[in-house]
Amino acid sequence: MTAAALASTVRALVARGRGILAADESSATIQKRLSSIGVVSTEENRRAYRELLFTTPGIGEHISGVILYDETLRQKTRAGNPFVTVLNGAGVLPGIKADKGAKALALSPEEKVTEGLDGLRERLKEYLELGATFTKWRAVIEIGDGLPTSCAINVNAHALARFAALSQEAGLVPIVEPEVLMDGGHDIARCQAVTEATLQGVFAALFEQRVVLEHILLKPNMVVSGSDCPTQASPGEIAERTIATFRRTVPAAVPGIVFLSGGQSEEEATRNLNAINGIASPPWQLSFSYGRALQQSVLKAWSGKADNFAAAQKAFRHRARLNGLARDGGYAAELERSAV
Ligand code: 13P
Repeated sequence: MTAAALASTVRALVARGRGILAADESSATIQKRLSSIGVVSTEENRRAYRELLFTTPGIGEHISGVILYDETLRQKTRAGNPFVTVLNGAGVLPGIKADKGAKALALSPEEKVTEGLDGLRERLKEYLELGATFTKWRAVIEIGDGLPTSCAINVNAHALARFAALSQEAGLVPIVEPEVLMDGGHDIARCQAVTEATLQGVFAALFEQRVVLEHILLKPNMVVSGSDCPTQASPGEIAERTIATFRRTVPAAVPGIVFLSGGQSEEEATRNLNAINGIASPPWQLSFSYGRALQQSVLKAWSGKADNFAAAQKAFRHRARLNGLARDGGYAAELERSAV
């Protein structure tokens, strides 16, 4: 794959009005999501749920790419059409989660390091053959008493850069995801300080490992108050602090920043993305790569019942549209109640 092809994938993923659906929940995570609506996580139920999402009429209008899990990349619709073919047909790029999950960090058991580098070059080759055009790797940084340690930031940054370099070598656009978790009672200033230190570490490692910044997307958390913090910051403050943090740490060569939702409600994630896009002329495209914030109402509407298929697809279209508007700063809370 040429540099031009990588650049064209990046451009398509952060095109105006569109963003990414993260449907790459691991088997353990999708089990949690399905059991929340009383559905058992069998391979067939996982397949049926992903078919619902990917066959939503008009999905390509506001969704530019979908991140898949290893199992999902190989699955087909009930009628036998590979999901990759369905997505390509709708103008949506298929991507793949390349990491193997966050595991306890040796000698610092409260922290995590993401695994999956061994054999990654070979797995990426297969993912490319199966039709993936981009990849994702998630690192998790926890805030707590004395946490994160610089060790946790550095080992995760190193792994993210190893992953990004291998992806570019394979002809795949890497989405680099360092997630500073919202969990905890800390205030927004602490989230900002930790996010800044994390991004500095990540970009130092990317630079050292010669990753081409023009051919990556960054998938960070927004700078927000801890979920148990008694004082919750306003969307305006979240937007100001988030952009200020990026200005200090993210080179202008990076074409796009696609946020994770990280446990924000659907409305919060949309409202905050809209506020972030209201800040004057940043050098990067600022879009979404949401998992939970695109799927909560879809799962609820579906509840595992074939009769609810169309209603659930309508809920997905609605969320995708509102985030597509927020991605350009054109969302308003009244639209929450508008018909699709
Ligand atoms: P959330 O939007 O639910 O945080 O998921 C995004 C994601 O891809 C996590 O790796």
